[in-house]
Parts: sequence; C-alpha cells; structure tokens
Amino acid sequence: MYMTSALALAARGTSAAPAARHVLKVGDLDAVEITTILDLAGQLKATRTVDQLQFLRGRTLAMLFEKPSLRTRVSFETGMTQLGGHAIMASGSDFMVGKRETPEDAARVLSRYVDAVMVRTHAHEPLERFASASTVPVINGLSALHHPCQALADILTIKEKLGHLAGIKVCYVGDARNNVAASLLDACALMGAQVTFACPPTLRPNLSGKHKRNARAFTSAVRAIADADVVYTDVWVSMGEEALTERRMAELLPYTVDEELMSHAAPHAIFMHCLPAHRGEEVTTGVLEGTQSVVFDQAENRLHVQKALLLYLLTDTTRIALA
Ligand code: CP
Ligand code: NVA
Repeated sequence: MYMTSALALAARGTSAAPAARHVLKVGDLDAVEITTILDLAGQLKATRTVDQLQFLRGRTLAMLFEKPSLRTRVSFETGMTQLGGHAIMASGSDFMVGKRETPEDAARVLSRYVDAVMVRTHAHEPLERFASASTVPVINGLSALHHPCQALADILTIKEKLGHLAGIKVCYVGDARNNVAASLLDACALMGAQVTFACPPTLRPNLSGKHKRNARAFTSAVRAIADADVVYTDVWVSMGEEALTERRMAELLPYTVDEELMSHAAPHAIFMHCLPAHRGEEVTTGVLEGTQSVVFDQAENRLHVQKALLLYLLTDTTRIALA
C-alpha cells in the first residue's frame, strides 16, 4: 500500500541523513519541505502507532527546557516513544544555557550522546549558538522570537479543517509581535495564505520585505477579522515578559476574541489558539468552547507534525513521493 511504503522508506533511509539540519524558525524549511512534512504527519496520524515502532528505534532526543511546557514536552516525548525511540528531558538547574557552560559546549557534548536536540529558550541567540556547534539536528521548541513546531501544527490543522492553505485568510488578534504570531506569519507566507493582524500600534509586527504582499496590520479588530477563514489568538503576556503584564492588559483590552468579534469573520471560520489559554483575557470561554473552536485538534497535531519533522530530520525521506 502507498502509505505503508512511504512510511517504510522514511524508516529505512537512515544512512543518507544529512549531517545536521536545524529547524530554529519556519524559514529554515521551504514550502516543498513543509508540504512533505504535513503529508507525512497526515499519514502518521492515519497509521497505527504500533506499526511505527521501527522508524526511530534506538534513537534518542534530548529535550532542554529553560521555561515551562506541557504540550511541547509531552508531545515530543510521546512522539519519540511512538516511533520506537527515547526522549530525555533536562530543565532548571540541569540546563542553564550560558550560565553553567556555554551553549556551544553543551551542544558539543550532547551531540556525542543523542541523535537530535529540542530546545526551549528565553532569548533566541543562545539557541542559534547552540545549533551552530551541534552536529545533530536542533529543533526550536519555542524561543522569544519563534515557535516553528506550533506553526507547523497550525497549518496542518488549517489544511485538515479547510482543505487547503493557498488563499486562506488568517486573522491573528492580540500581541502580533510574539513568537507564535511570527511563526504563523512565516508559515502562511510560505504556503500562500494571507494574514491580517488585529493589534494596537505598539504591538504591530514588522511587515517589511517578504511579508509585504501577504500581510496587513489593523488597529481595528473588526476590520482585520472581516471575512477571515481562521481567527487565531495567543496569550497577551508571553513567558519571560511578566513584568509587562499591567501594560499589556491595558493595551490589549479591546482585542479579546469574543462572540461579537467572531461574528465578523466568515461563517465557516475556525478559531485557533496555541494554548495555554487565559479565558476572559485574549478569548472568552464561549469562543474557546464554542463550535468554531478547533484548539484541541490543533494541540493534538503538535504530536503528529513533530513526529513527521523528527523523521524528516533523522531519516532520508527524499525518496518519498508525496503526490
Ligand atoms: N503551545 C505550546 O507550546 O504549549 P506548551 O508551552 O505547553 O508547550
Ligand atoms: N507566546 C506564548 C506561547 C506559549 C506556547 C509564550 O511564549 O509564552
């Protein structure tokens, strides 16, 4: 069967894997690669996990966390288990990038032990330094600037729910300068979706260059959301920005995604959130729990898309013909 042979190829071609391919931001992948990963994720999702145990047998993923996580940690660890591999987590005092040792030294050591490293950091720069010294693939599990794994799960979810990505209008409401917004924009731009941002002038994204044609920012949430196919929001205060809480609450008060705002989107619009959610701040309980919300399917897709990404980075999937 096609699906079986595609997955079998993914598992078989381990010897031809490139030396070290890092995914620190969405732009580290091109549109063809993303399509391959999304298709593989769909196939993995449709395949019994018991049939996937040989794909990463004997492989180890190190997961380094400088800040908290539920979804990223558990989905990566479960993904490795389902693919027959193993995941090890280090956080807190075990992983102090730039404090206990340099990011480069940590990367050089871990490269001797494990097959890939997933890293969640505050600043993005130590992650880049870590990757520059790593001889095994490094995956960004969220930094202050990017959240590529989330964006891959997001576009997989949009594709599943709406059938395609090209021409889809995504409206992101809230802190348009954060990691989730940046990676969503990058992914949409690569896949031909349009993005509008509803945000105060102080939190406008930088839409220079490559994003000029597919993105626009509006101060008016109603204008930004008009006819949107996808409405997306995230917390108003990202991890590490807690000192800004009071200011953010005041700035973003007009940008709660509530039922009234949702009524300006297309009737078929879906509501998305990377989670964790703060009910009553960026989204009402009614919208989060409503019929348009796909947030738990979106969270599930973190597992499938990260498994596909791990296979893409650790095995030779170039022979997979994803028509
Ligand atoms: N969406 C997301 O990355 O969740 P965690 O912070 O729980 O990993
Ligand atoms: N923007 C949020 C995303 C959490 C998954 C943060 O960085 O805290």
